[in-house]
Amino acid sequence: MNKTKRPIVIAGNWKMNLDRVQAKKLIEDLKTGLSSPVLLTIIVCPPFTSLETAHQAVQGSQIVIGAQNMDYRDSGAFTGEISPIMLTELKVKYVVIGHSERRQYFGETNTTVNSKIKAALAHNLIPIVCVGETLDERENKLTDAVVSRQVVAATQGLTSSELKKMIFAYEPVWAIGTGKVCEAKEANRVIKIIRNTISNSHNEPGLGDSIPILYGGSVNAKNISEQLAESDIDGSLVGGASLKADEFLSMIEQAQNISKLSAASH
Ligand code: 13P
Repeated sequence: MNKTKRPIVIAGNWKMNLDRVQAKKLIEDLKTGLSSPVLLTIIVCPPFTSLETAHQAVQGSQIVIGAQNMDYRDSGAFTGEISPIMLTELKVKYVVIGHSERRQYFGETNTTVNSKIKAALAHNLIPIVCVGETLDERENKLTDAVVSRQVVAATQGLTSSELKKMIFAYEPVWAIGTGKVCEAKEANRVIKIIRNTISNSHNEPGLGDSIPILYGGSVNAKNISEQLAESDIDGSLVGGASLKADEFLSMIEQAQNISKLSAASH
């Protein structure tokens, strides 16, 4: 499957930013600025406390809501955790899983990532699974091995029909929040490795080509077009730049133009 057949996804990960009033305002500004119909999947991922407000605010638009994390269990004595059932009750559709900040600061492992993906799929939530190497790993030429290992572990035991429902994001840790975007050709190369790893580990040629894979890490209105022009980069997972309506709208518009161009050329 080539790029034109995969959906283009622009997702904003707000991280631990914006209270409910600010969340509502940002979504209203995005709605005002969106030219319809939008040919992309646009997702915003607010903090848990703003999910309900955000869901109400996106009504009448094509913006859909994602969460930034979840527990893999349905309920129980797990103080501070949020279950997939709680997310679906709030009409959440997507959930970011295995973000490097969760792995780095909150002890997430490839094993918990795998459990969370399975739980998300069981509850009809679409997981956006993040993988990526640290600076140290890149400097030691371990990028391909680290990313492949993360992908194999994350997708262990999943069927190909489950995999086809998922989204992946290649987010090199050294590019997140640093202003050092990964060069587009290099991001494209690693994303191809992710596709091949999925196909090979599930023994199904072409499987990896049917899954949307985004790039994330210092994406902004200045560099998004270069990223999206690459053959295997199907969208962006945006942190800081998704908090500013004008900038996020400009990114959506650029993605929209690229999707129109690639549709016209096929
Ligand atoms: P920045 O866009 O702020 O670098 O963050 C990327 C990210 O972590 C998205 O999940």
